[in-house]
Amino acid sequence: MNNSARLSLALTLTAALFSPLTHAAGDPAAGAKIFPRLCGGCHQVGESARPGFGPQLHGIIGRPAGTPANYVYSDAMKNSGLTWNRETLIAYLKDPKGVVPGTRMIFWGLSDEEKVENLLAYLQSFQATAP
Ligand code: HEC
Repeated sequence: MNNSARLSLALTLTAALFSPLTHAAGDPAAGAKIFPRLCGGCHQVGESARPGFGPQLHGIIGRPAGTPANYVYSDAMKNSGLTWNRETLIAYLKDPKGVVPGTRMIFWGLSDEEKVENLLAYLQSFQATAP
């Protein structure tokens, strides 16, 4: 087994352990490759994640939208009443302004299911505590 296969296995096991969504079919290692390109310009994950242009996404699954106090959200996001889970994340990434009209996230939308699944699997590997 080479290093990247080992990393992928480790991430998969972590995701499975901490995930309430064990049926997710995504590949966290593939998500790790696309996150920096698609999201990383604005978002960070990891223990030391800080807000940048966008809020940090560490432990995002299970987090109510717009809650970390260290980031200034749009009113639209703060008042959206959403909690981030599989369904709301898939919908928001597909059509940010359709799901949260007035959101400040400038993102054209990602509807490629495989990429979304991989990103979700990657984000799941950054759950600080099991939600
Ligand atoms: C151009 C910068 C930019 C890119 C690229 C971007 N985002 Fe965002 N994102 C934002 C901003 C800004 C917000 C805050 C929106 C608001 O307050 O309305 C946000 C908010 C979010 C939220 C809500 C966070 C919370 O705490 O409620 C999630 C989830 C999210 N983004 C996921 C992603 C993912 C996953 C990607 C990559 C597929 C991505 N974003 C790409 C800028 C970006």
